[in-house]
Amino acid sequence: MKRPLKLCLVVGTRPEIIKMAPIILECRHRNVSYSIIHTGQHYSYNLDRIFFKELGLGAAAHNLEVGSGALGEQLGKMLSGLARVLDMEKPSHVLAEGDTNSVLASALAAGHLGLPFVHVEAGLRSYNMTMQEEKNRIAADRLASVLLAPTPWAADVLQGEGADPRRVFVTGNTIVDALHRYLPEAEASPTLDRLDVKPRGYFLSTLHRAENTDNPEVLGRMLAGLEAAAREHGLPVIFPIHPRTVACIEAYGLTLGPELRTVDPVGFFEFLLLEKHARLVFTDSGGVQEECCILRVPCITFRDDTERPETLQIGSNVLAGTHLANLEEQVRGMLEKDRDWENPFGDGRAGERTIDILVDGAIK
Ligand code: UD1
Ligand code: UDP
Repeated sequence: MKRPLKLCLVVGTRPEIIKMAPIILECRHRNVSYSIIHTGQHYSYNLDRIFFKELGLGAAAHNLEVGSGALGEQLGKMLSGLARVLDMEKPSHVLAEGDTNSVLASALAAGHLGLPFVHVEAGLRSYNMTMQEEKNRIAADRLASVLLAPTPWAADVLQGEGADPRRVFVTGNTIVDALHRYLPEAEASPTLDRLDVKPRGYFLSTLHRAENTDNPEVLGRMLAGLEAAAREHGLPVIFPIHPRTVACIEAYGLTLGPELRTVDPVGFFEFLLLEKHARLVFTDSGGVQEECCILRVPCITFRDDTERPETLQIGSNVLAGTHLANLEEQVRGMLEKDRDWENPFGDGRAGERTIDILVDGAIK
């Protein structure tokens, strides 16, 4: 007899909470039993609880409270906590989304207990093995029983690496579901007035990638690049700043010009609205590259590579590298660009497909 579904949904950081939300809401809608396990990798209110509140997710059933720390320490705490909680919950499946240390720990803990691990947003590759996220993605994909690829490109990557095609499904990216669901609420947010900016009257930036923030020369160059773009085009840069970046700026003694309007990280509604009305976005975030693409806002990515090549192919995004060698040329090019590309990340039914696949019992 088929065992009823009982899902453990593991989240740890801001983007995982946002991208898991459509799956959580779909479980609720279809009366699928689930528990949310929060590793506690993110814990500051505006990187964590604000999203549970805004997105209507209730509270996590378990919070492992691992906090920040070196990789080994963080992973060790996550593994022991997850093993304990999963052993108690005895789920039919363990789901985790993306490429953080929380995802790696989920895949390892599920594997250790012989529980099927479902990797949401499987098959992304930057082919840059110096990034911890690339290691996490590859390990999670290898350990997964079910691989939910957001795009056909990601599914091809998985099959090219030898994944069993019966375990690979193209669902679309749950961020499209989240945008469809929450954009109307975001539109009501008074953010632009609060920050005293007009639609298309500002640039938006986020920077938090360890490869950028943890190197004073690179971080200094990126801040100077943002300031130069702001001066050249007479537009301020709204810069919701990740605590990791704040800590690095302070530690290196870097100073920010008045063109950079730093604010604390904002909630999802405020951020969506800021993205939607930005003239152009500068980022090193994975999720922000996708959202800009979906919202038809041009994006310049401060990295040498991306695990979202679809955005480059359709022209919503360009890579500035870390040297920003052609930044002004790229800014001009992106400002002139027609915003008519098609969204490659799906139709907003990824959450529904995820549950369909698990209910069908396609894979034990
Ligand atoms: C992590 C993920 C990254 C993801 C990002 C989402 C890994 C390897 N990195 O990076 O892939 O894009 O989350 O935002 O898993 N801090 C706080 N409050 C918090 C959390 C962190 O102040 O709630 C500060 C601490 O100083 C901490 C630093 O931010 O040391 C970095 O946090 P950490 O979770 O290690 O990595 P992120 O840069 O957030
Ligand atoms: N985001 C947010 N507030 C902010 C900055 C980002 O709500 O101040 C959201 C953004 O809309 C996206 C997600 O956070 O959905 C991206 O997270 P992040 O850049 O931290 O991680 P990544 O996607 O790079 O893993």
